[in-house]
Amino acid sequence: MSESWLFPRWIAHRGAGKLAPENTLAAFRLGAAHGYRMFECDVKLSADGVPFLLHDATLDRTTNGHGLAAELSWDELSRLDAGRWHSPAYAGEPLASLESVAHFCLDNALALNIEIKPTPGSESLTGTVVANAAARLWADAQTGAIPIPPLLSSFQPEALEAARAAQAHLLRALLLDNFQIGWLETALRLGCVAVVGKHTQWEAVSVQQAQSAGLRVLSYTVIEALDADRLWALGTDGIITDRVDLFFP
Ligand code: G3P
Ligand code: MG
Repeated sequence: MSESWLFPRWIAHRGAGKLAPENTLAAFRLGAAHGYRMFECDVKLSADGVPFLLHDATLDRTTNGHGLAAELSWDELSRLDAGRWHSPAYAGEPLASLESVAHFCLDNALALNIEIKPTPGSESLTGTVVANAAARLWADAQTGAIPIPPLLSSFQPEALEAARAAQAHLLRALLLDNFQIGWLETALRLGCVAVVGKHTQWEAVSVQQAQSAGLRVLSYTVIEALDADRLWALGTDGIITDRVDLFFP
């Protein structure tokens, strides 16, 4: 197994789970205030190729915008309200660029799991641009200490393949919502260091298969203590959670 695993065991999903507007800097600040030292976020591209944080392909659920986010420029996206949908206290919170989140993490010695979440049809481009941006941001870091490297993950093998072609040295993880035949071979073929599985899918056999192949085992998205207990008992390596108010790293 890789000896260079530097990541905390607890990872805050989309910043602070559901306690703040997902994938915004406000969420990262709240997750950090709860003691979290690693964060997961979803990253896609604006029409002009700027990587920014948004889970859905469309703007409607989590902003006051409408339609496909990938059809707007970053200048247009950055003027949307991504907080009011959550609660009045967060009204006016903007969408976050990958750059702003990277700076927040680097400035505060926090680790970041960047989920490459391409708008459908832009898998390779998103993998390439996100990897190049992450490599530049972490290489330019002025932290004084060696920064914790980013972990790139994706459900889309094509995005991970493109990320590897662009920046082979960046750490990659394959996301899985089920364990179809060939999952382990796919992770190994993509040069991944970890598999991030839907937490209910991990069993002793699959954990052992992954770890025997040298891969770390992570889970998403855990909200119940019993589920976390099961995953730690299985010997898994990390948990992505929405409940930053329940689990204290
Ligand atoms: O990266 C883990 C998890 O975020 C994957 O699912 O839909 O919440 O992005 P989703
Ligand atoms: Mg995600």
